[in-house]
Amino acid sequence: RYLQEKELSQEDKDFIFSLPTEKGWVADGLHKYHGFWLSTKQMHGVLACQKHFQAVDSDIVLVTTVKSGTTWLKALMFALVKRAHYLDPQRHPLLTENPHVLVPCLEFDVYTDKQVLPDLSSLSRPRLISTHLPYVCLPDSVKHSGCKVVYAWRDPKDVFVSLWHFSNKLRPVGSGTMSLDEAFDKFCRGVNTSGPFWDHVLGFWKESLKRPESAFFIKYEEMKEEPALHLRRLAEFLGCPFSPEEETHGVVDGILRLCSFDNLSNLVVNKSGKLPAGIENSAFFRKGEVGDWMNNLTPEMVKKLDSITQEKLHGSGLKF
Ligand code: A3P
Repeated sequence: RYLQEKELSQEDKDFIFSLPTEKGWVADGLHKYHGFWLSTKQMHGVLACQKHFQAVDSDIVLVTTVKSGTTWLKALMFALVKRAHYLDPQRHPLLTENPHVLVPCLEFDVYTDKQVLPDLSSLSRPRLISTHLPYVCLPDSVKHSGCKVVYAWRDPKDVFVSLWHFSNKLRPVGSGTMSLDEAFDKFCRGVNTSGPFWDHVLGFWKESLKRPESAFFIKYEEMKEEPALHLRRLAEFLGCPFSPEEETHGVVDGILRLCSFDNLSNLVVNKSGKLPAGIENSAFFRKGEVGDWMNNLTPEMVKKLDSITQEKLHGSGLKF
């Protein structure tokens, strides 16, 4: 998978640690880069992919705010775009691989801090790649190529609750859990991976208005409410619409079933497997519901998050 050794320069390392830094949610610190908070591991990946990643027009890039249904969208997009290769539903790669392995993340999986450059030439086209990077940090080739961007986001109240649970699961043994109050304060200040959440959404939204044909916006809640409708829209956008024969044979429902929370979360690979980075696959499957914030947040917290959202998105045309 790796072609040549490439040491992250001392200059890059010095640069990362010259940035404003805060304690992160798991083990890494968070560094403020172009107005966004990126973890140390992510910073290594960002600097490397900005220098080396060459997007091509056929690439499909899934961009998400953290905990907004990335795992689900990865599974759906893989099943959708590669469906001609996997006609036997009993032998589908999603049954034995976690979606994060099938659709790698640019700054966490492809360009890592392992000091080697990846060989992407062998990936089958169209290449499916994901990222949590804010627009301003994307490699230039992604911004300027004709590649398609699928952007997924979610009610920030559920993003926050999901992120809090996820981060506490990932914290090293011995470092205890992070309190809801501490996490809430950080989230509201935008101090979380690829935060501030609202600026992330707005950055991509504004760019998508300039090039509507190359960006597809979807909210987790919309996908939950009408999955078949949005899967068909996604297929159109990605240039692989369902044929009348596929409609007759129930291919849309088949993909939705394969990628459903119940199906994926109960597979052996997702119950007991681990990603190469060491994260347990099961950490990506918690409840998979809309509105779990009601069980976790105080009325004051709800009021505060909603007012930040209203203020930030005001006038943008985006709503929650
Ligand atoms: P909850 O913590 O609210 O349950 P991400 O994949 O971006 O890290 O987001 C994780 C969230 O998506 C978690 O939300 C997780 O349970 C949910 N999720 C994972 N797989 C899903 C699926 N197949 N369908 C719906 N939601 C899913």
